[in-house]
Formats: sequence, C-alpha cells, structure tokens
Amino acid sequence: MKSVRKILVTNALPYANGPIHMGHLLGYIQADIWVRAMRAMGHDVTYVCADDAHGTAIMLRAEANGISPEQQIANVQKEHERDFAGFGISFDHYDSTHSDTNKSRSQEIYLKNRDADNIAIRPVTQLFDPEKQMFLSDRFIKGTCPKCKSPDQYGDSCEVCGTTYNATELIDPRSTLSGATPVEKSSDHYFFKLPNFSEYLQKWTRDEGRLPVSIANKLDEWFEAGLADWDISRDAPYFGFEIPDAPNKYFYVWVDAPIGYMSSFENYIKTKRPDLNFDDYWKKDSKNEVYHFIGKDIVYFHALFWPAMLEGANYRTPTGLFVNGFLTVNGQKMSKSRGTFIKAETYLEHLNPEYLRYYFASKLSDKVEDSDLNLDDFIQKVNSDLVGKVVNIASRCAKFINKDFNNTLSANCVESDLVQSFIDAGDSIAKAYEEREFSAAIREIMALADRANQYIDEKKPWALAKQEGQEQQVHEVCSVGINLFRQLAIYLAPVLPTLANQVQAFLQLDRFDFASRKQILISHEIAQFQPLMQRVDPKAVAAMVDASKDSLAAAAETPKVEKKKDKRAEKKVEPKVGEAEIIGIEDFMKVDLRVAQVLEAAIVDGSDKLLQLTLDVGEAEPRNVFSGIREFYQPEDLKGKLVVMVANLAPRKMRFGISNGMVLAAGNGEGVWVISPESGAKAGDKVS
Ligand code: 2FM
Ligand code: ZN
Repeated sequence: MKSVRKILVTNALPYANGPIHMGHLLGYIQADIWVRAMRAMGHDVTYVCADDAHGTAIMLRAEANGISPEQQIANVQKEHERDFAGFGISFDHYDSTHSDTNKSRSQEIYLKNRDADNIAIRPVTQLFDPEKQMFLSDRFIKGTCPKCKSPDQYGDSCEVCGTTYNATELIDPRSTLSGATPVEKSSDHYFFKLPNFSEYLQKWTRDEGRLPVSIANKLDEWFEAGLADWDISRDAPYFGFEIPDAPNKYFYVWVDAPIGYMSSFENYIKTKRPDLNFDDYWKKDSKNEVYHFIGKDIVYFHALFWPAMLEGANYRTPTGLFVNGFLTVNGQKMSKSRGTFIKAETYLEHLNPEYLRYYFASKLSDKVEDSDLNLDDFIQKVNSDLVGKVVNIASRCAKFINKDFNNTLSANCVESDLVQSFIDAGDSIAKAYEEREFSAAIREIMALADRANQYIDEKKPWALAKQEGQEQQVHEVCSVGINLFRQLAIYLAPVLPTLANQVQAFLQLDRFDFASRKQILISHEIAQFQPLMQRVDPKAVAAMVDASKDSLAAAAETPKVEKKKDKRAEKKVEPKVGEAEIIGIEDFMKVDLRVAQVLEAAIVDGSDKLLQLTLDVGEAEPRNVFSGIREFYQPEDLKGKLVVMVANLAPRKMRFGISNGMVLAAGNGEGVWVISPESGAKAGDKVS
C-alpha cells in the first residue's frame, strides 16, 4: 500500500485587472491535471489560488473605470472564478490577496524579517508627477532616449537602440498619466536584504527536486552577478497593505502576492476545513509537501525572494516549483489583430473546454518548454484521438449491450489478458502523470485506444450481430470493448473530468479512481449510452478567432495602464507571453489613415502576389504602393476605385521598387477584400 502524501498545490495568482486568456490557462490546466491525477492515485491534495489584487496598475484601472479598487477587484475575481470553473479547474478554495488574513500574515512575515535584521531603510530619488501627486514607475514616464535621441521612449529602456537607463536620464521626460513634467523627489524606501540569503539560496535552488535544473542553471548567473537588496516599499497612493510603523508606505505587490498562497490556504481552513492545520503545512519542519505551479517569467520572485522571505520568518519553503513555458498560438505570440489573443470566456462561448485540456495535456512535459496551440492541429488531434479513437469504442459497443443484452455486460471476460494488459499499463501512466510527463501519458493512452479499436475491428460485432447464433460472441466482444473503454476513461479522467463523469454515470460505477480500474466488469449493468463528445467544428474555431479580433473601438476604450513589466532586479528577462497588446488612443492616432484613389493598377513582372498601384492621396505627387492582392484582383477592378491607406508607413524597399504606404483590405484566409469608403469621400480625406 502506497503511503498517502499530503500536498498543497497553488497556481500563480492572476492579476485582478484583466481577463484570463489562453496563456494563463496553460499553467492552470497543467496544475489541475496534476492535482486530479494525484487525487486519483489516492493522495490528499489541497489546491488553492487567489486573485493578485494589489498594485498601481489595478489602482489606475479602477480609476479609469470610475470605481473603487475594491469594486474593481471584486468584479474581476467573479470573472476569474467563472472562467476557471468553466475550464474545470478544481480549486478547493479561491481567495484574494486583499484579505484581512493576508494583511496580517504579510505584516507578520515582514516584522519577523525586520527583527532578524533583514530590512534596511534608505532614501531613493525618483521621478514624481506633481499633478497626480505620485511617484512614477518607469512605465509611466516617456521621453527622448539620452543615447539615440528617439522620442517617446519608456523610462527604463529605449525600444529603438536598446539602451537601458534611469528614468531621470531621459530628455524631456513626461508623465504618461497626466502629461506633466515629472520632478525628482526623494523618499525613504524599505529594502529586503536579499544578499543575507545568498548562500542559503544557492544551496536551496540546488536541492533535489526544488527546481528544474535548467532554471537552477539560469539562477547561477544571478548569484555570480551578486544579489541586490530588493525594494519592497511603494509610497502612497498605492493600493495595497501599509507597512507596519511606516505611515504612507505600502508593501510592493510582489511582497504580499506569494503570501497569498498561505493566506488563501488559511482562509480555506477557516471557512471550509477546520480539520486541517495551517502549521502542518507551513511550519519549518513540515513533512507535507507544497508545490507552486508558475510561469517561467516569475521564477525570480519564487526562487529567490519568496524562499528568502519565508526562511527569514522561520517558515518552511516550497518543496518544489513547477515551471511552465510560454504559450504561442499558431506559432506566434498571441495577437489581438490576428484574433489569437483568445480569452477564456470567448473560448467557452464556442468550444468544449475539454478539447483544450486534452490538447495542452498532449503537449506538456516536465520541461520548461514553450507550447504552441496550433488551431489546425488542435482540431485534427481532438477529432482523431478523442472522438475518432476513444469515444468511438463506447459508441460501437454500447448499442448492442443496451439493445440486445438488457444493459448488462457478459458473465465472463473472454479477453482477460487484453483487459489485464490495459490494467497493467495504468502503473506507467500514473507514473507519467506524477512526473508531469503528460504528453507521455497521453501517448500511452492513445496507443491503448488503438489496440482497443483494432480488437473491435477484428471481431466486427456489427457483422456478427447479423449472423444467426452469434449473439453470445457479440455480447462478449462488446463487453470486452466496454471494459477497455472504461480503462481509457479512468486514465483520461485527470485531463477530461467531464467526460469521465459522464462515463462513470454511463457505466454506473461508484468509483473512478486509478485503483478502481483493477476490478474487471463482469455481469455489470450499465445505463443507456448517450453521445459523449462532438467533433470539433472548424467553423466554431474560426468564429472564436473572429470574436477575438479586437475592434479599434475596443482598443481605444481601454484605459492605458502600467504594463506589468518588472525590471526583475535590474536585469532583462523575457517578456511574459500573452501580455495584452492593447494600444491606447494615442497609439492609434499615430496611424495616418487616408482615402486614396487608384489612378493606375498594374501587374508586376516577376511577382504573382503583387499589384503595383499608383495612388492619389491628395498630395502633390501620387504614391507608389505595392499591394499583395494580385490573386484576388485584376488591375481593371481597381482603377478609379477609392481605397483606404496607411499614409505614414515607413517606405519599404522591395525588389520591384519602393512601396510608399499600405492599402487596407479585409481577409479571412479564403479571400481578400479591399476596403473602400462609401461614395462621397475624396482622395486625401482623413480616415478615423
Ligand atoms: O505575474 C503574475 O501574473 C502575478 N500576478 C503572479 C503572482 S504569483 C504569486 F506570487 F502570487
Ligand atoms: Zn535609443
């Protein structure tokens, strides 16, 4: 008998200022599959999460929405919980970092660190917005790059020449919040003395199972460079918790965010599970396990600051960090214009969440690798594996059991070796789940599904049913098929919980955990078969992508808030994939859209894609533009036509000449339609 492990699992806490999208879901689905698998193996798993509710971004988002931060975070939390439930994420408890419990736990951890001499106070000079009366983080300051003199660069680095600098070095800096010229101002900041933990962390990150080795190697670079004190305070106004004995100073959001793991668990005990004991999981020598599932962009916080804060306050540190890579969609960063920035809510309006759970499972391993959601592959894989292989087994066999054998499986199992081999495979499948090698588990399960289908194909119950005197064989073959199907459904249950529930009801089984599979079903009564899963409809996928395409109006309405970019202790880290590509109205206004009239349109020798257009844009000289619409338009279709063009696009040198602008067209992969204003517009008119 394997001993029962007591495990606390968390996912990264999502910020309470935006919707859950596919990029988030990769990590939540990964954790949920692991939690469900470990529970199915009989372990005692508690799974908690919370909204990450503090920080300037949330404060400003609330202000832009004309509501209080409390209202803002309550609204978003409701949406987050709805979306997680929609994807079957089986949290035991979902909380918020803006809770009394989290406040007292954060203050306690801070005070213990202060008592242990891990806190320093010293003045920091920063830019201050005299109109907004607040200090500005780098993302709220723009100005001219001190090196290459490019205008409109953020306060930390230049996107044109790549130089990093201090915001105070920008030429003509301005606050993006008010437009005011910021002034330099000094105030006291509170620092966590991370270097006190250098040795401890170097060892900690190399402890067996603590971190993926690739991540530990990466962290070595930081140790070599030397750890720096961590600025943990922000001056008012700030939405967060005040620092004890420091009026108007607040904990930086990343202080109380991971403490939210503890306080969410604590609130779970308080509200739902008084039988659990907080110390059993968090006291220093606890034997229970704690795992955090996180994205690779927040490793620094979880592998350095978090264990150091815990160690400094005499708590246990996490048993391990499970780190996932980023998500791309169709091979590229998620994009609003391409319709691949897909929100959880939008997905659920069009598709079954289990499709995505399966697709992600088929891709995930314990490596810190990026995953791609390729929508064509998604359709193909779900249809071929789940509908074509797995569900097909039940639908082929159940109808005979229901119709001809009084809903009851045969009294003997004629293929006990085959069924036993499916049962035996459960050990390595369970191991793969436990090791988070989900793609390996799926491969094994699908190989079993192939064998089950092969068996049914060989026996052909549908043909036997038409022959005299073959009833018993039909009964036996279909009963084997149902037994094999049941094994597969148990193995897939962590990935496909809804399907598993349906199968459990159909097979009338009290238990559906991994161990229950060992009992072969003999003379067992089943219920009427109901269709279990529909094929993915490519039209639904296209509709989802369409619905995810952002209209300009929506972008313009979105308040400009701090992008969640941390300097991650002054070092460059890869940006988080899936970060919203929201543009503000000021970005949109940079695009000079104008009506143009096509004076000439000509085929380009040597190109089967391009047409050469001569456009009247209301300027002294006509413009030359190459447009990739040759497959869809003849030159004569375009002559005289009014079109819309981007007039201020940087000229592009092409093999055939210089293209000086871009003509706008709609396209959906099947066709392209040049956008043309209603009659009445004239060449040179501004489009907005
Ligand atoms: O990066 C993020 O989305 C953070 N909100 C994650 C916080 S995880 C934990 F530390 F709270
Ligand atoms: Zn520059």
